[in-house]
Amino acid sequence: MPTVTLLQRKPVSELISATEEGSHSLRRSLGALSLVALGIGAIIGAGLFSLTGIAAAENAGPAVVISFVIAAIGCAFAGMCYSELASMIPVAGSAYTYAYATMGELVAWIIGWDLVLEYAVGAGTVAVSWSRYVVSLLAGWGIFIPAGLAASPFELVQYGDGTQGVGLVNLPAIFVLVVISLLLMRGVRESSFVNGVIVVIKVIVVLAVIICGAFYVNPSNYHPFIPPNTGQFGEYGWSGIMRAAGTIFFAYIGFDAVSTAAQEARRPDRDMPIGILGSLLICTVLYVAFALVLTGLVYYGQMRGDAAPVATAIDRTPFAWLQVAVKLGIICGFTTVILVMLLGQSRVFYSMARDGLLPTTFARVHPVWRTPYLSNLVFMVFTGALAGFIPISQLGHMTSIGTLLAFVIVCAGVALLRRIDPSAPRSYRTPLVPVVPALGIIVCLAMMISLDRATWVRLVVWLAIGLGIFFLYSRRHSRLTLAAGGD
Ligand code: ALA
Repeated sequence: MPTVTLLQRKPVSELISATEEGSHSLRRSLGALSLVALGIGAIIGAGLFSLTGIAAAENAGPAVVISFVIAAIGCAFAGMCYSELASMIPVAGSAYTYAYATMGELVAWIIGWDLVLEYAVGAGTVAVSWSRYVVSLLAGWGIFIPAGLAASPFELVQYGDGTQGVGLVNLPAIFVLVVISLLLMRGVRESSFVNGVIVVIKVIVVLAVIICGAFYVNPSNYHPFIPPNTGQFGEYGWSGIMRAAGTIFFAYIGFDAVSTAAQEARRPDRDMPIGILGSLLICTVLYVAFALVLTGLVYYGQMRGDAAPVATAIDRTPFAWLQVAVKLGIICGFTTVILVMLLGQSRVFYSMARDGLLPTTFARVHPVWRTPYLSNLVFMVFTGALAGFIPISQLGHMTSIGTLLAFVIVCAGVALLRRIDPSAPRSYRTPLVPVVPALGIIVCLAMMISLDRATWVRLVVWLAIGLGIFFLYSRRHSRLTLAAGGD
């Protein structure tokens, strides 16, 4: 196949006019506030509530606060790049679509395939955590879900009679994925309303922990603020702060999902940057405050192996009632994260199918609901299978590395598009190009490098499978290739 077809780019003008194509067009129903809520809904979740304590205990101590700032800086650089592309190319598909316009079909395919790691694997991972919190909350109310029905067949569980065995299927995780997929099939406006309500509850819970906890902080827990390195890379000291940044990066994943809804935004040129950078800023402030309070309430060493450090922290305050509220908030938080991730995934898949890189059936929009319901359906089954039957505790890092790769490509795309198409209208311009994109690439690569070798191997295997599909199917069916008279 000639190299030129691998590098063929989709013209930006064609991308934009294609958004209004009859039965393939989505409904423009989201304003700036809905987009900020969509971002916060996707961002605050398993990362904040589960990983902050672990990263503090194992890598950074109280300096996990600095890790949050480092990860936020990387996300801010990438967020500015996402904003420029989202305001310039306001169509569904996020990084995939941007790559198609800037770096050609092959890179676009790679990024689209890679985004499955971020959105679908991410949603599955969070669904499993959701299931754990729901089981624990229900148990507190005297409702017991059999252990085997809330764990995958590869996980060891403790049965009611005290014996140990393996799980059967994680039913609560499947349940939440099915319900949210059905909601998304019904329509994004309804889903965005539900998301808005839950986001308010979630932010109130995070603020309650910060405000109630702040009065009971023990300043001696902050000493040493940066525990000395043990001699091992990643165990405290500055290398520990970097590794913690790579770990808690998971907590920021999601703001980019706002860009996948560009085609449903009422005023994408103004609202996309507000949605992306606004949600990122709000979450950064909340995260830093949350991490400060958490490490001030509990000495970092005591959080080692603690699956619920937030609960331990609340025990240090006289507000026992917060326990249930926080669990409810965490469950709500996870729910909206799953919602936005599944929304993003279906939109990326929809865009890829519309370009002919996947079977076009998946680009069909429901005649009444105006949603890409077949994409939703496919990922309902895929993520349900993942969360129900596969132990995905190891896959959190897969989500992170896939997302970081997407960020790197988006940053490169902005710099490239400024050269290829300097006069195209850009209602939001990333400042200091190419410095900001270059810094985004450097910070994100540094976080990728801080992840372990096994994660890198899995990424390479995943991308190899994707390339196989590209060369066997996508390149033959690409609309650009067909329009040019085949390859
Ligand atoms: N940022 C999302 C979370 O923390 C993925 O769960």
